[in-house]
Amino acid sequence: MAKIIAGIGSSHVPAIGAAIDNNKMEEPYWKRVFSGFERSQQWMRDIKPDVAIVVYNDHASAFSTDLIPTFALGTATEFPPADEGWGPRPVPVAKGHPQLATHIAQSVILDEFDLTVVNKMEIDHGLTVPLNLLCGKIPPTGHWPFPIIPLAVNVVMYPPPTGHRCFMLGKAIKKAVESYPEDLRVVIFGTGGLSHQISGPRAGLINSKWDKNFLDNLSKDPVKLSKIPHIDYMREAGAEGIEMVMWLIMRGALGEKADEVYRFYTVPASNTAVGHIILSARDAKAKAGKSKMKRAAARAKADVRKSK
Ligand code: DHB
Ligand code: FE
Repeated sequence: MAKIIAGIGSSHVPAIGAAIDNNKMEEPYWKRVFSGFERSQQWMRDIKPDVAIVVYNDHASAFSTDLIPTFALGTATEFPPADEGWGPRPVPVAKGHPQLATHIAQSVILDEFDLTVVNKMEIDHGLTVPLNLLCGKIPPTGHWPFPIIPLAVNVVMYPPPTGHRCFMLGKAIKKAVESYPEDLRVVIFGTGGLSHQISGPRAGLINSKWDKNFLDNLSKDPVKLSKIPHIDYMREAGAEGIEMVMWLIMRGALGEKADEVYRFYTVPASNTAVGHIILSARDAKAKAGKSKMKRAAARAKADVRKSK
């Protein structure tokens, strides 16, 4: 049986990708951001997942205002990086996992979540930047360390899905993964956020109190987070803060209880509060990869930088 063993939340600020591509990672401004992910990269190497489901949003790269799927699941064998205006990022093509992806599509759609199935799709910074943060800089001739199932969520054109719908979809994804017969250890990424607003009179808005409360409640009270209405994200976390609903798909997929393994928060990168969290699924610890998970968590905890 496949199992979702952990969830990873990470911002996806495009300027982080540009800093990687242009070898600016050692500059003090960027080192502050990248240093918060060193432990996470070690954790990722220790955990060695078989597959990653990456919940992210497309920024008018694969889709346009012509066609806006609310939830689009990538079932292709590969997903090339999109040209976002400066040519495709120099990162590897992401290899998919069509067998697990089509199984998830079937299970979730029969569970009455109307996913769009995407057999051809390019991926933008929403997906490639979190992968870099967790896996490091990998040249286009290399490979990401695991196959990737992209799940694109519309958070760029009104109306995005509610946080509650996202949370429920996460639960349906957990059920889908657990009904897949092969023993796969799966991680799920929730990406985007945290608070930021890119345009308009409130451009530059960051709300650290809101962000930290959101990070706290991912383990303490995710049901409370799932009830936050759109207007509160907009008011408190800025127009683009609505990206945070994607973290609730990740959280819903971890089951009732999840334990915080590691967290990092810094302000700002570009216009955005950078938030990152690793959560282990409590029931998964009991059943799958217990010792690996324990060892990786101990390593991460040994050097925790909790900026609570
Ligand atoms: C920025 C952040 C984003 O999430 C994004 O998609 C584009 C820009 C920024 O901080 O500039
Ligand atoms: Fe974004």
